[in-house]
Amino acid sequence: MTHPSYGRKILAPLLKGVIENLETAPTSIFVLVDRRAKIALEPIKKSLGAIGLPTHVRQWWPSEQRKSFGETEALMQWMIRTGVDRGSLLIAAGGGITTDIGGFAASSILRGIKWGAIPTTLLGMADAAIGGKTAVNLPEGKNLAGAFHAPEFIICDISLLKSLAAREWNCGLGEIIKTGMVGHGELLSFLEETSASKIRRPGDAALRMAMEAGEVKLRIVEADPLERGIRKLLNLGHTFGHALETAAGPKNLAHGEAVGLGLLCALRMSEELSISEPGYRRRIHALMRRCCLPVNYPGALPPRGELTELLKRDKKSNAGKLDVILPRIPGECLVVHGVEPPVAAAVIHRELGD
Ligand SMILES: NC(=O)c1ccc[n+]([C@@H]2O[C@H](COP(=O)([O-])OP(=O)(O)OC[C@H]3O[C@@H](n4cnc5c(N)ncnc54)[C@H](O)[C@@H]3O)[C@@H](O)[C@H]2O)c1
Ligand SMILES: [Zn+2]
Repeated sequence: MTHPSYGRKILAPLLKGVIENLETAPTSIFVLVDRRAKIALEPIKKSLGAIGLPTHVRQWWPSEQRKSFGETEALMQWMIRTGVDRGSLLIAAGGGITTDIGGFAASSILRGIKWGAIPTTLLGMADAAIGGKTAVNLPEGKNLAGAFHAPEFIICDISLLKSLAAREWNCGLGEIIKTGMVGHGELLSFLEETSASKIRRPGDAALRMAMEAGEVKLRIVEADPLERGIRKLLNLGHTFGHALETAAGPKNLAHGEAVGLGLLCALRMSEELSISEPGYRRRIHALMRRCCLPVNYPGALPPRGELTELLKRDKKSNAGKLDVILPRIPGECLVVHGVEPPVAAAVIHRELGD
């Protein structure tokens, strides 16, 4: 599995060397860049300019709506028209949406070409760009089509986070809390003990959080690359979270925010089954507030029936029943199989309803 490189101001110096050290030199380079992450563009152009291979750059405005087959097709058509071949390399620079769709296009165009990830969000550096999963959304739900296609390199340059909006930063913290709950209780203590301003700017604290969360994810993914067993634990909060995200719409509830609410629902269910102590849910509730993450659903919660239908679409459902990840103690979770979707919908109502 590809190990990410973390650091500050490392993009320009690292990218050139990483490409030159690939097993086979690429024939050409295609770059997909998030327009909001234009901070990454100059170091990328500088590095690629020094390599001297034919290079084509496409800038785009990512959104969950555009993380679609339609947009993938447009990206592939552009690549074909611009002369992609089996030896080309695709670089995806942006948040999780850009690395997901870029990686997915790379997995499929000409039956697969190599690619590299340059995550530009905290969430991307701590989670989305790591582990080789790529995906696009369908109108029916998130990430319902995709492929396992690991990038050749992942460069996480924390200084690219300078331009990240506060809400996006908080989303990254939501996913980092999840990772701490899954496999590294110390991350939760670190978030609690470091000053609120330090965990919300691109300095040493952010570097440490992203790196430690990334390492936990990598450790789990390496043990189970195709998600047959323990990798499922990384979906903590996501079964609930995806249903809430689809119900509210991405504008009202961003991915990391939805995952945060999902964590509270999972903790509620754990507590009701005596798998975790009530103090654990209160702790995560307080931590989410510290990270400026919402602890309530935006607006009126959809009826249970609607949530049940959304939960049934979860990719991890089996014969209509859910595998739900439940937290036990910080750093440890377990999987409960065969949960009926209406039962999970009722948990959402008990945790987030009036
Ligand atoms: N493949 C995986 O294993 C995996 C894991 C977790 C999440 N994801 C996916 O990742 C996505 C969420 O990731 P995300 O939060 O990074 O989303 P994102 O790509 O939408 O980025 C968030 C926002 O920040 C902007 N942005 C990105 N970099 C910026 C920068 N440096 N400065 C200013 N603005 C910048 C983007 O344009 C976007 O508006 C979801 O689609 C989720 O499904 C995938
Ligand atoms: Zn996620």
